[in-house]
Amino acid sequence: MNTTSEYNSLKSICQNRKSIRCFSNQLLTDDQITAIREITQTAPYASGKKNWELLVVTDQVIIRDLAGIVRNRSRELGEQVRSDFRDMFLEYSTHFAAFKSAPALFIPVFKVQPSLSLMLEGTDDGVGRWERDNYVKSISGVTMLVQLAAASLELGSCCMTGPLLAEEEIALRIGVKRGFEIGAVIPVGYRE
Ligand SMILES: Cc1cc2nc3c(=O)[nH]c(=O)nc-3n(C[C@H](O)[C@H](O)[C@H](O)COP(=O)(O)O)c2cc1C
Repeated sequence: MNTTSEYNSLKSICQNRKSIRCFSNQLLTDDQITAIREITQTAPYASGKKNWELLVVTDQVIIRDLAGIVRNRSRELGEQVRSDFRDMFLEYSTHFAAFKSAPALFIPVFKVQPSLSLMLEGTDDGVGRWERDNYVKSISGVTMLVQLAAASLELGSCCMTGPLLAEEEIALRIGVKRGFEIGAVIPVGYRE
């Protein structure tokens, strides 16, 4: 197959991207954060509305607090898990707070804005779910671009939705605007 140098660069970035969960304490520069942001701005979006924003948390106290919030939530949920699955769940859920050593968290947030469903007469007929799915699918593209941009800068990252089991508390701690939902928590930093 004939490929271009752009294809080969992209392929190498994609192949080099692997989920990283342990980070060194080297901080990201403002330029690196801006560079990742710029790439996410190219994400496609559904319904003609770019209803998302990218929050970046670099305050280590907040990141530690978020990890604590997620660990507490996992413990709480663990108590509700059937006893024969509990140990397995508790082991698995350690991955939910595996962003704790990251120097930065990229957190794409999105807002579901009903449009077609508001124009319908009678029942919703699944349109509301379709609208919501469109925004969730759009934010997935942003999430992927954060990771590919990070990989292109030789930084490690990991897409995490486990932390969203504590979404409300996370949103409160980082001040997510009313009406916005969190798409993922993406730690980014140098591999340990
Ligand atoms: C939607 C989504 C949610 C994920 N949530 C978590 C998570 O909460 N914690 C975690 O450590 N990894 C999480 N991952 C990362 C996956 O475990 C990882 O992508 C998968 O094991 C493949 O490994 P790779 O990314 O290194 O190719 C998530 C990935 C996706 C796509």
